[in-house]
Amino acid sequence: MDKIVINGGERLIGDVKINGAKNAALPIIAASILADSTCTIKNVPALADIRTMSKLLSHLGAAVSSGTQKIMVNPTSINRHTAPYELVKTMRASVLVLGPLVAKYGKAEVSLPGGCAIGARPINLHLKALEQLGAKITLDHGYVRAEAKKLTGARIIFDNVTVTGTENLMMAACFAEGETLLENAACEPEIVDLANFLIKMGAQIQGAGSDIIRITGVTSLKGVEYEVMPDRIEAGTFMVAAALTKGNVRILNCPRDHLDAVISKLTEAHVTIEFEPDAIKVVGGHMLRGVDIKTAPYPGFPTDMQAQMMALNCVAEGLSVVKETIFENRFMHVSELNRMGADIRTDGRTAIIRGGAQLSGASVMATDLRASASLIIAGLVATGTTEVLRVYHLDRGYESIEKRLSALGADIKRVKE
Ligand code: EPZ
Repeated sequence: MDKIVINGGERLIGDVKINGAKNAALPIIAASILADSTCTIKNVPALADIRTMSKLLSHLGAAVSSGTQKIMVNPTSINRHTAPYELVKTMRASVLVLGPLVAKYGKAEVSLPGGCAIGARPINLHLKALEQLGAKITLDHGYVRAEAKKLTGARIIFDNVTVTGTENLMMAACFAEGETLLENAACEPEIVDLANFLIKMGAQIQGAGSDIIRITGVTSLKGVEYEVMPDRIEAGTFMVAAALTKGNVRILNCPRDHLDAVISKLTEAHVTIEFEPDAIKVVGGHMLRGVDIKTAPYPGFPTDMQAQMMALNCVAEGLSVVKETIFENRFMHVSELNRMGADIRTDGRTAIIRGGAQLSGASVMATDLRASASLIIAGLVATGTTEVLRVYHLDRGYESIEKRLSALGADIKRVKE
């Protein structure tokens, strides 16, 4: 397993271009199952999760090929409808093939994803909603099976906001007879990107981005070319790194409209943020202040930025409180940050951070995607050398991050173990 080795203390200076959004590309690739010809999906980041989703579609029988930051999917040769455990266990987002498969082929079998480091991650809301569209759901031997001669539109009210649940149902409802209403739907920008892709294919969808989405079923969708939106979480991650290293970084291709909560919190932390026509400039430097964070569904503060902001709070002055409301176990980075000299105490889903720490380099263990990013950021400002182990977590969501940070002046490299 590779590790990332960082010698802290360097300021990040220069330009960095943001890649396509992993959490938009994954549902869009799954949605290509619905098409009656080839889809070409562009601005796709080169990530482990994207490769896993491509492998899954190939396993189903689709013809999948890839180019530079693009994937071509011809779903017409799909002849299997099972997402096997060995693929699903490496990527929970595999569950996104459930909706399209049952909508187009009348059957789907997906290994239950099981939990992961940050929580139990059940899919009960996906299944309950698919049943409301007329699917028969059975669970056995660790697999969920969905069968339906046809799907019929229904009014679905999600018990709580679920991003991939909203995505699965939006895809399934495209082929459900009549009208489907998704209420208490997730409003994340990735939902809008998926809806835009489906609409370009010929779907009839209104309200994506709000908590009520209306889908009118159609009988077929055509293959199209589509460009995935930029990744707001990758952008936010680089913004925090620039701020903490007292750097001066222009974030290019930055989805500014999707970052209001993050920009507001960084500004509150005394980070200077300047808006240019095609970039956001982040200037760290003067005394940063710790800020209270409470994660929430979009447009609230994103849970996928919680760990990164906690690293900032450790070094910034003052006391701060971080409340994680989305996942039950998303503080795995806390013990590792404390080993680097941070002063964080947790009580359930609340963390209290006493700021002003001078972090010191250490060997630390990555546990999940965003915790890894938090440890990298901490290593950039820690004195001495930090080794981040198990960086396969990082590779799931960040393309060549060590090369891009090095290009900004960081003393960072990947060491093959
Ligand atoms: C998506 O996960 C993202 N993944 C996550 O990003 C992100 O953290 C999360 O949304 C929240 O924004 C992708 O888009 C591929 P949820 P998802 O369903 O859809 C509970 C990253 O770092 N829940 O919105 O799985 C669930 O346990 C990843 O890129 C149920 O109880 O999240 C959680 O507590 C990590 N039953 C909460 O709802 C269900 O059926 C929100 O989960 C579904 C969810």
